[in-house]
Amino acid sequence: MDLINQIVERAKSNKQRIVLPEGTEVRTLKAADLLIGDGVADIILVGDTTEIKNMAVNLGLKNIDKATIVDPKDYEKKEVYTNLLFELRKAKGMTIEQAAKLAADPLYIGCLMIKNGDADGEIAGAQNTTGDVLRPALQIIKTAPGMSVVSGAFLMFTTQKQYGKDGLIVMADCAVTPDPTAAQLAEIAVSTGHTARALVGEEPQVAILSFSTKGSAKHPMVDKVIEATQLAQKLDPTMDIDGELQADAALVAAVGQQKAPDSKVAGKANVLVFPTLEVGNIAYKLVQRLGGAEAIGPILQGMAAPVHDLSRGCSVSDVYNMVAIAANQAIAAKNK
Ligand code: ACO
Repeated sequence: MDLINQIVERAKSNKQRIVLPEGTEVRTLKAADLLIGDGVADIILVGDTTEIKNMAVNLGLKNIDKATIVDPKDYEKKEVYTNLLFELRKAKGMTIEQAAKLAADPLYIGCLMIKNGDADGEIAGAQNTTGDVLRPALQIIKTAPGMSVVSGAFLMFTTQKQYGKDGLIVMADCAVTPDPTAAQLAEIAVSTGHTARALVGEEPQVAILSFSTKGSAKHPMVDKVIEATQLAQKLDPTMDIDGELQADAALVAAVGQQKAPDSKVAGKANVLVFPTLEVGNIAYKLVQRLGGAEAIGPILQGMAAPVHDLSRGCSVSDVYNMVAIAANQAIAAKNK
């Protein structure tokens, strides 16, 4: 996987501060040790200091003493973060007492560190559910300027080298927004194209998928995809975006030629955008499990800073790769 090596090398060339709120989780701690050893990022671990140190000894980890540890029970900026959270959420009814309590929650601390400029990105989710990881991020870090919706993309390294970039296809939304409106779907399409551009280094050919190709079926669900396509093309006229396309018309040249002969994208899509989360989440897991693809993600897009949610079934290398990806996104944001 050359692409991941490139992402890791780019991260090493300009080290970013990445916070790992699940500092006492074994896979997270092992990944932190490797990341520090390889010089990929400056790692901040949130968790009980003694527990982290004891775990590092028991697991034989040599580099954890070089991580910054933030102990939720008692850390230097607790009051600063409490006040920051209170200011951000008081209009939503949060009291200072509630803010103080949440400023001791590792998932809130991670996001508050980013908001306060003390970290550049966050990776969590080896222990916590997607909702619990995303909620503080959506409340504190919020969406990027010009964006109203957050979504999750996967880099799918499939074995079918004839598709995408040597089998690599970017898929979204597989993780966040259950039932996007046409306008939200348009944003998801454009931000997935940007993710492909930033990480894959190839011009995106974005297909917004449906069970219909260019009017072959009539249904309100199809209408949503047609509207989303028109909106997405207006949002970013420089990007090749087309819909509504069925998956085979999007991917297979002969089928694309037959079903959508005038489409710039049909038959050569390298970015697949799903009409709902139900489709996206099921589809990526089927491609992964039945198709034998390596899935890297979800890479959250549309957020004002890189925050990524791991699957609870993640491996040490998943944590490692997501830290490198977050670091790349932080570097790209700083270079904008
Ligand atoms: N984009 C941008 N902002 C959002 C989004 C979104 N998609 N969803 C919610 N928000 C904002 C809201 O506007 C709100 O902001 P505010 O409080 O400042 O007004 C804040 O986030 C919280 O919103 P709620 O509606 O209270 O949050 P909710 O409880 O609905 O949680 C969440 C949002 C966590 C994203 C929810 O929609 C969810 O659970 N989605 C599915 C996640 C999931 O389970 N994915 C599948 C597993 S992942 C995998 O398999 C890889």
